[in-house]
Amino acid sequence: MRRIAIIPGDGIGIEVTHEAVRVLETVRDCFGLTLELVYFDWGAEKYLRENVTLPEGALEMFKRDFNAIFAGAFGDPRVQSNKHAIDILGGLRFGLDLYINFRPVRLLNNRFTPLKQGHRKNINFVVFRENTEGIYVNVGGHFKRGTDQELAIQEEINTRHGVERIIRAAFAYARQHGRKRVALGDKSNVLTYGHELWRRVFKMVAVEYPEIEACAQYADAMAMSMVLDPGQYEVIVTNNMFGDILTDLGAAIQGGLGVAASANLHPGRVSLFEPVHGSAPDKAGRGVANPIGAIATVAMMLDYLGYSDVARRIEQAIEAVCEAGEVTIDLGGGLSTAEAGSAICHRLAHS
Ligand code: NAI
Ligand code: MG
Repeated sequence: MRRIAIIPGDGIGIEVTHEAVRVLETVRDCFGLTLELVYFDWGAEKYLRENVTLPEGALEMFKRDFNAIFAGAFGDPRVQSNKHAIDILGGLRFGLDLYINFRPVRLLNNRFTPLKQGHRKNINFVVFRENTEGIYVNVGGHFKRGTDQELAIQEEINTRHGVERIIRAAFAYARQHGRKRVALGDKSNVLTYGHELWRRVFKMVAVEYPEIEACAQYADAMAMSMVLDPGQYEVIVTNNMFGDILTDLGAAIQGGLGVAASANLHPGRVSLFEPVHGSAPDKAGRGVANPIGAIATVAMMLDYLGYSDVARRIEQAIEAVCEAGEVTIDLGGGLSTAEAGSAICHRLAHS
């Protein structure tokens, strides 16, 4: 029995989560998985109504009673501060110490990439983004705020512990999955303290993996190479902010935010799975959102929960609907969110 928390969130998060849950129900019924799904209505609506974001005791409850958490997306134009999203997502990522943000970048079909013919070969890599430190830790402050001498400081935190565990996770994954090359993205040429630490630890860990080529790059050059020569990447490890930016670029070259999947992991502990995209207020409520990112995220979650065969089947079903053009408008198809979800469920049920 696996207990999964489902938090649809806001906007298209709700719509794609609906399809993701239908896939979970399909595999439960077809392949005999024992899954218990428990819903949580956390998001903008609840925040505006009850002033509650991440309820008290939530972290303890997840640690105690759940195997995984699936979230749609958080963000609503009525909450300009984005407080609920920061509290819920940040609260879970930091509070559960989910130090690995794992984001695969895989081109499902050649039609989907905006890259030119010669550049689109072998787009298939994974990004290990550090998820609990860096510049997103909210350390800093204002001085003379609102005056013409205003000063704002936003500190980047890099700890030996934090840097080492994400780098180790990347190398361990490479070894386990037969990947031959791990690339580090940093800016050690200018961030001579924090990112010098990244380079030093990267070199140190790489020694333990002699069969894997370790390649340290500057993150800006990496962004360029992801467009011009993405085939060179197998595993990328990078810090919180660069990982944030580089994985949006990764999403773009694999077919857009609508197909990009993401996991926030602490191996062995309850972890959080969510598509890369946000709540897309421009598309919300129109039934046009692409559910593939959310459904590919479900596959990763089931893989994490030990159902790797079922995860493969979901990935194959996604590939099949992409090949057949049974997809939403962002991928050049004509299906609604629900129809695109049904197409995948149908393939699964008959696989
Ligand atoms: P977004 O990811 O919501 O949308 C960016 C663009 O991609 C939009 O044009 C949108 O229509 C399109 N898009 C995204 N997902 C799609 C899908 N599944 N199918 C088809 N098209 C899709 O990012 P944006 O616009 O910067 O932010 C909107 C809201 O979402 C904001 O409140 C933001 O804070 C929040 N957000 C939340 C995230 C999360 O919950 N993990 C991540 C990113 C943004
Ligand atoms: Mg982002």
